[in-house]
Amino acid sequence: MSTATEARSNPLAQIDWDYVEFYVGNAKQAAHYYMSAFGFDQVAYAGPETGVRDRVSYLLEQNKLRFVLTASLSPDDEIARHVALHGDGVKDIAILVQDARAAFEMAVGGGARVVLEPTVLEDANGRLIKATIATYGDTVHSFIERDGYTGIFAPGFVEARKSIAHAAKPALQFIDHCVGNVGWGEMDAWGDFYGRVFGFSQLVSFDDKDISTEYTALRSKVMTDPRHQVKFPINEPAQGKKKSQIEEYLDFYHGAGVQHMAIRTDDIAATIAALKANGVEFLDTPDSYYDMLQERVGKIDEALETLRDLRILVDRDDLGYMLQIFTKPLQDRPTVFFEIIQRKGSLSFGKGNFKALFVSIEQEQEKRGTL
Ligand code: FE2
Repeated sequence: MSTATEARSNPLAQIDWDYVEFYVGNAKQAAHYYMSAFGFDQVAYAGPETGVRDRVSYLLEQNKLRFVLTASLSPDDEIARHVALHGDGVKDIAILVQDARAAFEMAVGGGARVVLEPTVLEDANGRLIKATIATYGDTVHSFIERDGYTGIFAPGFVEARKSIAHAAKPALQFIDHCVGNVGWGEMDAWGDFYGRVFGFSQLVSFDDKDISTEYTALRSKVMTDPRHQVKFPINEPAQGKKKSQIEEYLDFYHGAGVQHMAIRTDDIAATIAALKANGVEFLDTPDSYYDMLQERVGKIDEALETLRDLRILVDRDDLGYMLQIFTKPLQDRPTVFFEIIQRKGSLSFGKGNFKALFVSIEQEQEKRGTL
């Protein structure tokens, strides 16, 4: 089948990330945090000054990454209620599509709940089409068809560039995968949802024998588009001796939601050094992890000492290896965090690191009294 035929028969065959929108309590301050700590630049703004009455939004960019930080200007609307219930969190994982109406029809045909019917948004720069469906919890997916739109981002936004000087700038490239935490026993249903609604297939799954420590456990499956451009792992808690990190998330987020976004970099050592210099906090890794590392992953390009100093994790599969590290939660509640990842051939999700990682998360849970 040619790519063009494929695109017609499956409107979600050729997709990419468009933007991720966070609902936050104070978008101005959140924007400053993501700029100063993670090296984003502010590119555009929407708010009362641009004709948007009820909210403010800041568009931040870094290479192919596009984050929108939105806060309400009133005490009781959808945004304010979202923040009251969930704390700062991810609202919309927006997907760039070639035909928003066709994508929407397919999603709704597959059983997705409608949030916004296909809507044309227009200004002097042209038009774009947006349609939105619900996914787990209060999280949504917008389908964005840019349709030759030449403006800075979307109608309602004006260019508002601002940068912060960094001694060493992190180099974050694009989203590798975006993970959802769902409730007990709900993982399979949400995996099926991405099969029906997006035409995704399962890339890999992990059961609680793969992902467990002495205390806590979880199960996970990874759904992907045909081109492996957009990957959605889904986690559910599993029974352990103590409370799992997924349960802790569900308690603090008050339901299902985005747990982490993995962000790709081409130079993880320089990027993590820069992020640490900017004050970003990462999960620690026990020193013993590095004693065994060489034996476990074989020859790699990076100096073991550098990885040990920065606490970067490494895992290998038959295609190559990958390096990864996880931040601590990005807001007051122990909910959303980032993974920074560099792939050197490997398409894996770091199964070999799960144990070391979980021990580290449990140490943090212990401090919060939630283990
Ligand atoms: Fe991940």
